[in-house]
Formats: sequence, C-alpha cells, structure tokens
Amino acid sequence: MSARAFPATPEYTGLNTPLGEEYELRGLAVAGELPAEVAGSFFRATPDPAFPPYLEDGGAVLSGDGMVSALHFSGGRVDLTMRFVETERHRAELAAGRALFGRYRNPFTDQPEARGLDRTVANTTPVWHAGRLLMTKEDGRPYRVHPRTLATLGRYDFGGLLKSETVTAHVRIDPDSGEMFFFGYEADGLASTKVAYCIADAQGNLRREQWFDAPYCALMHDFAITRRYALFPVYPTTCDLARLRAGGDHWVHEPQRDSWLGVLPRYGAVRELRWFRGPQGASCFHVMNAFEDEAGRIHLDQCLANVNAFPFIQRASGLQVAPGETGARLARWSIDLEDGSERVTETVIGPPGDLPVIPASVQGRPYEHAWMLTMNPEMQGPPVAGGPVGVMFNTLLRMDLRGGPPQALALPPGQCFNEPVHVPGARKGHEGWLLLIVDEQLGPVDFRHALWVLDAGRISAGPVARVAIPHRLRPQVHGWWVSEARLQAAD
Ligand SMILES: [Fe+2]
Repeated sequence: MSARAFPATPEYTGLNTPLGEEYELRGLAVAGELPAEVAGSFFRATPDPAFPPYLEDGGAVLSGDGMVSALHFSGGRVDLTMRFVETERHRAELAAGRALFGRYRNPFTDQPEARGLDRTVANTTPVWHAGRLLMTKEDGRPYRVHPRTLATLGRYDFGGLLKSETVTAHVRIDPDSGEMFFFGYEADGLASTKVAYCIADAQGNLRREQWFDAPYCALMHDFAITRRYALFPVYPTTCDLARLRAGGDHWVHEPQRDSWLGVLPRYGAVRELRWFRGPQGASCFHVMNAFEDEAGRIHLDQCLANVNAFPFIQRASGLQVAPGETGARLARWSIDLEDGSERVTETVIGPPGDLPVIPASVQGRPYEHAWMLTMNPEMQGPPVAGGPVGVMFNTLLRMDLRGGPPQALALPPGQCFNEPVHVPGARKGHEGWLLLIVDEQLGPVDFRHALWVLDAGRISAGPVARVAIPHRLRPQVHGWWVSEARLQAAD
C-alpha cells in the first residue's frame, strides 16, 4: 500500500477523503459585505489522517491527525492557513513514514514503536483562553498552537500543574469572571472512573483540580456550568479494560444502564457532588447551555437521544437503530436540589439536532436564542455523506428558548453545513453573526466549499457574505471565534 492509499470505506472517501496538505491562501474572494464586527480568526479543528491505517477501524474518523485552520478576517480581507498539529503521534508517524497507532483509543493495537508515546491527535476543539490557543481532544492533554502561525508550541499542562492525563474538548468559560471550567475523564488511565474537575483563572493559571469517581467509566464528552454549579452528565457508553486488552472497541453503548447527572457547587469540594438519575440508555454529545431559574431550579439543555449516534459504536454494541428511531430531541433536564427528588425531570424543548451554539455572553445563564444543526425532514434526496457520523447536516435552526417557533435555513440537496461559530454584534439588540463552512457536492469525489456569514437573528434570509475557498476541505469537528482585539492582546 502506498503512503496515500486509503481504504475505500466511508471513513476515507467522498467528503471524508484524506487531504493531508498544509497551506496558506491569501486574499480569498468575498461576495457580499463582511460585517465590521467580523474581525479576527475563526479557528477550526479538522481530523485528517496522514497515513492509511493498518487495521480496520470504524472509529478511524475520530482518530485522524488534528489539523488546525484559521480563517483570518481583517479590513475586508480573508486569509486561510491550514496546519497539522504536530503531536507526538503525528511526528512519530511522519518519522516512520506509516501509521504506528492502531484502533480508536486502544493502545493494545499499536505497533511496538508507538509504545509509551502520547496517543492523542488534538483534533476536536480549538479552545481560546487567557491568550492561549489549545487544540484539544478528550483522550489526552491539549497541544498549544501559535494563533498567528499555527505552529505547534508543544503539549500543554498548565505549567506542570495539571495532574489529569486528559482534558475535555468542551471547556466552559464564565463570561463575567473569565475563568475556564473543565474536566478530564479516564483521568488516570484507560477505563478508569476517575474524573478531574479543574478551574483556571482568567489569566490561565490552574487554581483548582479535584478528582471524583463517575458512576462508571463513561464517554463524558461535554459538561456545563451555571452561575453556581458545575454539571456532569454521564451516559451509558462505557469502556472496559479487558475488552481493550483483547484488541476490542473502546466504547460500547449499554441501553439498559441508567444515565446520571452529577451536580457540584462550582467552587465546592467534590464530596458535595450529588448524583441525579436520568433515563436508561440515553446518549448525548453536546450540551446547548445550562442555567438556574429564579426559583433556583437547575436546567440542562442538551441534544439527547436514546442511543449513541456513532454507527461504529452501535456496531460494537450489537445495536442497529434506524436514523429515524433514535429518539433524538432537544431535551431539558431539570432538578430541584431542595425537593428531595433523586431523578431528573425531562422536558422536550425542541427537535433533533446537534452542534449547538450560544453567544459566549450567556454561558451558564438564562438565554433566549441558540443555534444548532439538524436534518430537513422534507428534503428531496439523500444528505451528503461524510463527517464523524457518516451524514452531514443540511439545515441550520435558530431556536427561541422563550417558546417561539424555530427559524430555519435549509440547504438544497447536495449541500451541507459544518458547525457555526458565533460572533457578537456591536449594535444593542443585534444577535450577532454566524460563520460556518458550507460544503457542496458536485460529483462523487468533487466538492466545492465556501464560508458563509449569516445575520444570527435572520438566518432564513441567507448569507450576507460568502467567501469562496478554492481548496478541498475535510469536515470540521468544532470551531472557535477569537476577535482581533483578543488576538492582538496576545501578540
Ligand atoms: Fe464535541
């Protein structure tokens, strides 16, 4: 097999075709008018395997080497830079000229040369905090990247203070204090129930790290904060060390097992953690937001389903669930710390969807609007194949959390959305802007890409500006917006 001959499977074909190219494109063509507030960088995380696998692995789409890209907006000009994150894993494979790491999050399937090396690929979320850009993936510690050049500066462990071996790709930043709240699961190794809960201050100093045990070792992809609490949802996609040692899958979904919501005062001690029971078999990757209401009840809004959405995890679990039968919904879990209940109460507040986005200013607060991606149930024709779960979303929704109807922007067949980022508006009452990549399939292996700028309050009106991207792009996982003022403050 040549260095770039990838298997003809969904993980490596069509929109998911590995690209593996670092490049800079200057002065991209802009149609329409870029809003003045859109000045800064849209950082994107894209998995892109440098070498073909030596084992069949349905999770491979999550194991691709981290690529970080920046779409930089300045004075009406747009530049794009794309670079590999130079993880220990990527450098070792480059040196060997072939893949050294085996199945998704299973080091027992690695080549001997990989032993002892950091396995993470830093491919999930570019996190900006305290003037630092960190490329994260939940199976390891972040890698710090230079925000202008995208050069990798090395693994990041908060100046040697962090004890957890892992850091989530879904940190939460308090809009008032600037503190970053985060966690790491499997904090001391494979299949461990240990979870680290950490707080970094507005300057990025690690102020607190406490460990607790989850009810079982679970895929804890996201969490939430409110003004006073940290919330840890636990869904029964579980890991087992014996299975890993046998060369098996990291994750299996267990539909008969309970889900849980851990509730801890944000600045409390982990002995104060209380667990509330949720529905059996639930699965969620992304929390939209969480908040406390005037009565002190705690609400967690999440893109929930009755089964893990990843086809490779369903296969490993012996589950076959049709896309329309997953029970997917936007769900609110509510708890009252005072009423003696030990269960969450669920309310369905919206349709199926994922990749929710809120303004950074309402993190952990009562909020009115949010955006997420979904499938248009009326679309004529199949959705575009690609991305981590095999199909791409074709509709953007603006949700009204006060109870009004959603506003939608549906793409025609053959087009799909990647996750948006939100850019705050300057005018009072303006909801800001959304930036997102739109992929268009022109043929089996032929795609065209553009960045769209939408008025966040009027998404149905379509883009106010489009930026043509004359280069193939692989599907993005998550992104992050950093204003030019913040970039300059960090220069
Ligand atoms: Fe995520």
